[in-house]
Amino acid sequence: MESRCRLVVLASGNGSNAQAVIDACNTGTLPATVVAVVSDKADARALARADAAGLPAVHVGKRPDETRADYDARLADIVSGFDPDFVVLAGWMRILTLSFLGWFPGMVINLHPALPGEFPGTLAIERAFREAREGSRDSTGVMVHLVPDEGVDSGPVLATARVDILPTDTLDTLCERMHATEHHLLVDTLHRLCAERLTERTSSPRNGAKV
Ligand code: GAR
Repeated sequence: MESRCRLVVLASGNGSNAQAVIDACNTGTLPATVVAVVSDKADARALARADAAGLPAVHVGKRPDETRADYDARLADIVSGFDPDFVVLAGWMRILTLSFLGWFPGMVINLHPALPGEFPGTLAIERAFREAREGSRDSTGVMVHLVPDEGVDSGPVLATARVDILPTDTLDTLCERMHATEHHLLVDTLHRLCAERLTERTSSPRNGAKV
């Protein structure tokens, strides 16, 4: 029986959160192994980071003649080949349909740089920063949640962290603090989920054993 959880990380861009998860696995902070990093973008830095860490770095681009559902089914087929316990969306910038999600019930986890119900979609940090400059807010936050359906950055919340927007902040300094907060929150949440999964596996091996 495996004593570590298997994580597939999906990332479309820079991959600083993917890197935080890889590092936490490598140092033993996280009882898990990143078994693959998958990107929809061939030039995503996340793929270069996986490659540098000696991990499978897999580009799965959408073909022009492919429907979203067909792409998601092909993606699910590739991801399920890595036999993950959890699929971690760390800066994955495509909305996944049930053609993908249906394969991984309760296993897909998304990170979003805003608190529940706030700023779904892209540019969440920029939008919060603009509102702060207009005087209508003095904080934002980060959340990790499950992805049960096609809702955008919504789903059962696993963890949140508030981040103050300081009067002295520039967009760059706010982004820096938001990303640092994300790296911790994502690793802490995965730690909890993996510990629970490994305990389940130990207490009832036939339910969770990887064979
Ligand atoms: C992160 O801020 C993540 O929360 C966000 O993309 C960034 C990826 O950064 N995700 C979303 O906005 C999802 N709607 P990274 O590539 O450096 O990890």
